[in-house]
Amino acid sequence: MHLYNDNPTLLDVQHQMNEEQQGEVFYKNTPEQPDSEAGKHFYIESYGCQMNFSDSEIVASILAEVGFKPTRNLELADLILVNTCSIREKAEETVRKRLRIFDAIKRQKPGTLVGVLGCMAERLKSKFLEEERLVDLVVGPDAYRDLPKLVATAEDGDKGVNVFLSREETYADISPLRLDSKGVSAFISIMRGCDNMCSFCVVPFTRGRERSRDAFSILAEAQELYERGYREVTLLGQNVDSYKWTNPETETLVNFAHLLEMVALVAPDLRVRFSTSHPKDITNEVLHTIAKYPNICKYIHLPVQSGNSNVLERMNRTYDREWYMERIEAIRQIIPDCAISSDIIAGFCSETEAEHQDTLSMIEFADYSMSYMFFYSERPGTLAARKYPDDITLEVKKRRLQEIINLQSQVSYRHNQRDVGKVYEVLIEGDSRKSEQDFCGRNSQNKMIVFPKVPGYQPGQYINVLIKAASSATLIGEAKI
Ligand code: 5AD
Ligand code: SF4
Repeated sequence: MHLYNDNPTLLDVQHQMNEEQQGEVFYKNTPEQPDSEAGKHFYIESYGCQMNFSDSEIVASILAEVGFKPTRNLELADLILVNTCSIREKAEETVRKRLRIFDAIKRQKPGTLVGVLGCMAERLKSKFLEEERLVDLVVGPDAYRDLPKLVATAEDGDKGVNVFLSREETYADISPLRLDSKGVSAFISIMRGCDNMCSFCVVPFTRGRERSRDAFSILAEAQELYERGYREVTLLGQNVDSYKWTNPETETLVNFAHLLEMVALVAPDLRVRFSTSHPKDITNEVLHTIAKYPNICKYIHLPVQSGNSNVLERMNRTYDREWYMERIEAIRQIIPDCAISSDIIAGFCSETEAEHQDTLSMIEFADYSMSYMFFYSERPGTLAARKYPDDITLEVKKRRLQEIINLQSQVSYRHNQRDVGKVYEVLIEGDSRKSEQDFCGRNSQNKMIVFPKVPGYQPGQYINVLIKAASSATLIGEAKI
C-alpha cells in the first residue's frame, strides 16, 4: 500500500496528505460538536496505509450498531482503539509510544478499555498482552465483526483476542461510517489481503490471503457516496490489478478494468481513483479503460521499489527493470497525460552502489510526479528476514535514501514546472492548509493545487484553474471562470 509515510528522514518533498493524517482521529473534520455525556463512547486513532483508515470506518460502523458513539476526546472515551501498522519498525514504535499515553489515561480512569487493532495486532497476536499488559483487546484486520463480543468480554474483565485471518471476509455489507464528513472524497475498499509475497513485506502475514469484494456492493457504495455529495472515490486494495470477482448468478467474471468502468459510469462528475497498482499485473485493458473515461483520473501509483533487476529478484517482485520500463512506455502511449508515482526502498539486502544507481536512473526514466521513499527495515518473519542478511549499514541506507529524495525532488519540481501556464479542472477539497483565503484541490493527475477562493464556489465543486507557479510539492494557480 502506498499513501504512507513514517520515515523520519523524509524531507518536505513528499508531505502528501498521509504524513499529516497519521494518527488522525475518527471524524476529525467534522465540525466541533459537544459530545453528549450519555451512552458509551469510543475513540479511534489510525496509523499506516489508507486501507487502515478505511478499516477504521468499518470498525466505527460496527461499534455504532451496538450503541457506541464516536468521540475525539480521549478523556470521554470508554473504549480507546488504535488501528496499527507493522510495515516498518518505526510504525510500530509510534504505536507503542501512544500506548504509554493511553495507559496513563487508563490509570486516571479505571474501567477504560484499550484495544489494539490491525496489522500489529495480527503480527504479535497474544504476545501483545504480555508485552503491553494494559491492553484489553487485540483484534486482527479480519475480526472486526467480533468487536462487540470482544468488548463485552473485556468489560467482564477478561482479555478479548481475535486474530483469525479469513479467506472470505470483505466487510462487503458494512456501510462505513465516514471519517471525513466534509464529504468530497472517500475510499472504497475493493479487496483485502495480498498474495504477492514481496520478500521485504509483512502484509501477507498481517492481512492474509487476497480476496475481492462483491462488485455490486462496491458499486452500491460508490452510488450512495455520490448521492450524499461525494465527488471522488478511491478504490483501494494492496494490488488492485488482480481484482477478480465472479458473479455467482451469471458466472461472469469482473476484472479490474470492468470494475473501473462500472464505477466510472456511476456519474460523469464522480472522479475515480485507485491504489495500488502492481507493475506485473497492470494490463493494457486497464490502461485503455483509464484513457476512455474522462472521470477516471490520469494518475497511476506504480511502485517500482528498486530500479535494478537483481534487487527486484531478491525482493521477489516478479518483474525486472525492462518489464517495468515497458509498462511505463505503455502508460505514456495509451494515456499521454498520465502522472505516475512510486514507492522506493533504499538499501535493501546486499544492494550495491551500482544497483542503487539503477534506482536513481529509473526515477529519471519514469519521470515520477512524486514518490514515497523509505530505507529498508527488516521485518520479522518475512522472506527477506529468513533468506538475506540485512547487511547495508544504517549510514549507507540513509545516504542512499537522501540521494533518492534529492533526485525525486528535482524530478518533481521539473514535472510541476511543466504545468505552469496550463489550465486544469480541479475538484475543490477545502481550505488550503496555509490560508483561509485559499482553496485547495487536486487535478486529475493528483497534484495539489492552491488558488485564491472565488465567491460562489465551495468544496465538492469543479473549477478550472490556470497554473501560475509551482514548487516540487504544490501548484499555485488562479481560477478561470
Ligand atoms: N522496509 C522499508 N519499506 C518497506 N515497504 C514495505 N515493506 C518495507 C520494509 N520492510 C514500503 C514499500 C511499499 C510501501 C507501502 O512501504 O515501498 O510499497
Ligand atoms: Fe497497511 Fe498493514 Fe501494510 Fe501497514 S502493514 S501499510 S497497515 S497493510
